[in-house]
Amino acid sequence: MVLSQEFVSEIERAFPSDFMSRDAELLPVYGKDWTKHHAPNPSAVVFPRTTEEVSRFLKLCSRHRVPVVPSGGRTGLAGAAVAAKGEVVLSLDRMNKLGPVDPLAHTVRVQAGVVTEAVHQHCAPHGLVWPVDFASKGSSQVGGNIATNAGGVKVIHYGMTRQWVLGLEVVTMDGQIHELNGALEKNNTGADLKHLVIGSEGTLGVITEATLKLTRLPGQLDVFFFAVDDMRAVLSLFLEARRAPFPLMAFETLSHNCLEASTGHLKLKPPFASAAGAYVLMEVQRPHSPDAQEALDGWLAGVFEKGLVRDGVIAQSPREARELWMIREGIAESLMSGTRFVHKNDVSVPVASLEEFVARMYELFESRHGELEVYLYGHIGDGNLHLNTMKPEAMDREEFLAKCARADRDLFALVQRYRGSVSAEHGIGLLKKDALPYSRTPGEMALLRAIKAAFDPQGLLNPGKIFD
Ligand code: MLT
Ligand code: ZN
Repeated sequence: MVLSQEFVSEIERAFPSDFMSRDAELLPVYGKDWTKHHAPNPSAVVFPRTTEEVSRFLKLCSRHRVPVVPSGGRTGLAGAAVAAKGEVVLSLDRMNKLGPVDPLAHTVRVQAGVVTEAVHQHCAPHGLVWPVDFASKGSSQVGGNIATNAGGVKVIHYGMTRQWVLGLEVVTMDGQIHELNGALEKNNTGADLKHLVIGSEGTLGVITEATLKLTRLPGQLDVFFFAVDDMRAVLSLFLEARRAPFPLMAFETLSHNCLEASTGHLKLKPPFASAAGAYVLMEVQRPHSPDAQEALDGWLAGVFEKGLVRDGVIAQSPREARELWMIREGIAESLMSGTRFVHKNDVSVPVASLEEFVARMYELFESRHGELEVYLYGHIGDGNLHLNTMKPEAMDREEFLAKCARADRDLFALVQRYRGSVSAEHGIGLLKKDALPYSRTPGEMALLRAIKAAFDPQGLLNPGKIFD
């Protein structure tokens, strides 16, 4: 995309000299995200410091009809932050101020470019946490988390990002600044516009600030890693965990090939000497009671006595707990590392249908897509499965992608049959647009388009994302 000289001159006149960059080293970094989706360089990157600058910039872009891609930590997995047509990237990197934590209201006001982990560190001394947590917390930004309604490993306990946002400051493409809900816990004044923006992947407005809802830091956490026979056993263990006398913080699963990939990549010792059909990482919160240890021990003894698990380890120290978590959280990175080429899917079905769905899914791949090996992991307690396939070394990339596209169609039809979602937590972005009609009816699609047109009638904000 070529920017007109008039547009560039207006920016140079109206904004600080370091507002816009066309540095050849910077452009490719800001135009892409973790998907490594191929894209030309963006035509420029702008780095506003204030909401007022974002507003003036969007107004200028609207006048010149310049499309804009908002950009946070670019850790997304659906391509929502990719400047696919060389658009101008609006980076929130410099908008990274944290306001004071309010210990009475349990809130904190932050700018959108604050890194997720920085929020955790800012709130921890107050005994509070913003419980949005995932492997990319060291680089993902609050605005991006909210724009994609990010999920993660603690959704089973806390819910999605949406549940932890009280208010948003959003700038629409016409430059208007909207304060949506402020810091109100209760506000029944019609449809909640903030919730339209959350999860809209930067297509409706640029999130510039947020009032985050906080909760108390959990007490002592215990981490278990179990080896079980198969998915049926994973779900039997899940039922037992649901009945346990302590809060469940995470209940994750992974197949053996994922365990091998992650421990191999991270050079960690596998927790068990022999291979199992599937594994579970479970984290629980120890109750504040004198007999907590007894309750935990009793529950554990029960799962072994009932034959629900084959083997298990309990983290004996925070370091061991971290290492068990690394096995789970390292899967995504290990499957994308080096020369590996991965095709990702992120689906969900109702928890009650999981066992049947997984059995049908494996049958489907075995009978129709035998050349593709499935790497299965995910947030099983939420009904969310990450279903990855790796390109075999000898297979050509084009051929692999064509096979994945065929397998995807079958997979999405199966997801639809179980009334599931083709994107549980990663979003639609660029990569899952074709899949969207498997989860959204034509009526819903029409509403989504009408909402987009109401917020951004010229279609200049993050164009081509979610739908064309
Ligand atoms: C995860 O659960 O590890 C992330 O969502 C990343 C992924 O699915 O690959
Ligand atoms: Zn995930």
